[in-house]
Amino acid sequence: MKTKFGVMLAMAAWLGIGILSAADIGPLPKVEFDAKKAAIGKRLFFDKRLSGDVALSCSSCHDPTKGFADGKPLSDAYPGTEGFRNTPSVINTTFKDAWFHDGRIGTDLNDVTREMITETIWMNMDMRIMQERIKQDPVYIKMFADAGWGEPSNGKVRNAIPEYLKSLTSRNAPFDSGKMSAAAKAGQSIFTGKGGCVKCHNGPLFSDQKLHKLGVPENKEIFQKPLRHVAFIAFTKSMGIDNYMNLRQDPGGAIRNNYKENLGTFMTPSLRELKYTAPYMHNGMLKTLKDVVDFYNKGAGKGSGLKALKLSSKEQSDLVAFLEALSGDPLNGPDHVWSEKIDVNYKPIPDWWKARN
Ligand code: HEC
Ligand code: HEC
Repeated sequence: MKTKFGVMLAMAAWLGIGILSAADIGPLPKVEFDAKKAAIGKRLFFDKRLSGDVALSCSSCHDPTKGFADGKPLSDAYPGTEGFRNTPSVINTTFKDAWFHDGRIGTDLNDVTREMITETIWMNMDMRIMQERIKQDPVYIKMFADAGWGEPSNGKVRNAIPEYLKSLTSRNAPFDSGKMSAAAKAGQSIFTGKGGCVKCHNGPLFSDQKLHKLGVPENKEIFQKPLRHVAFIAFTKSMGIDNYMNLRQDPGGAIRNNYKENLGTFMTPSLRELKYTAPYMHNGMLKTLKDVVDFYNKGAGKGSGLKALKLSSKEQSDLVAFLEALSGDPLNGPDHVWSEKIDVNYKPIPDWWKARN
């Protein structure tokens, strides 16, 4: 494998097409996970007791029937607020090394899970109450014990959910199985060639996991709808953005560092599973993959530094066909959609548990 890759790189250099080439896109690595711990994480993912007022579960926004996203331009948020960003799919999120549209968490999914549970605009949950709720549920008591974890705790909840997320990975995408249509193959050549897409969309996720400025138009609803603006202000203020009251653009990567340099930059998203996750971009401003290709074809937005591609309409539809070939089987069957009705009220500890103690 290594030598083949080396030869391809050498050829790329020899052809003068630069180091980035088709060799830089490839299959996803395999992930191992602990089935019992993942099963706990899965139940938690569908459990509304993880939100302060028992109104939202992770799956309210990351819905298995919608590619583990929500199909909306901008997300919902904790009751009394509304979201200001597009919900990303959590399929393949386990492979990332920085999360959120601005890449603000670069440690691990345990920290991302904590942010989603505790932040006021998401699930607004106090971890101490969450822990006590979980500890009162006999189903969890048994599951945690069977997984060798002893008593449920806040820390274990934050480990169980990432364990479950490891099970959500692409299956049988035509790109991986080698079953691409002629149009998709032609689209791949444009993607790695004159389209210049591979410059940012590379690696197994088709993402360099870096911030770039594309100049996608602002979604005005964020500033015009009071409940969205409430969440936007709460977020930018807590992230230490000075000018949050007057700001009329999503600061994006500027919340990480170098305000001026990173203003309006966003993380390159993965291009896998896009068939299920329209609309696109951090603010849902582009409705279809055709719209996205059209956006790039015209040289993207203000400040992107990208040039118009001038692709013919066939080249554009081939590029769309290639993007579609990066989506696998939908993860929306009985294995993924939750069927148990989780009773959010506490039940008395059952006799089998008392007997065990
Ligand atoms: C109210 C809707 C909502 C709920 C509930 C929610 N999420 Fe999210 N999630 C989002 C939005 C919106 C983002 C993007 C936020 C941003 O970029 O600032 C996101 C981002 C993420 C990401 C980062 C994905 C990436 O590729 O960068 C992960 C992982 C994630 N959520 C997992 C969870 C988990 C686990 C839960 C439950 C504990 C949860 N979410 C609950 C809406 C939600
Ligand atoms: C300079 C780096 C760069 C180049 C070149 C680039 N992209 Fe992107 N791409 C990004 C970034 C950054 C985003 C996210 C922008 C945002 O959310 O505002 C993105 C978003 C996308 C999305 C939306 C994904 C989603 O989940 O919302 C698609 C589809 C896409 N790009 C395809 C392409 C194609 C096709 C090309 C080549 C014609 C291309 N990109 C070239 C950086 C790039």
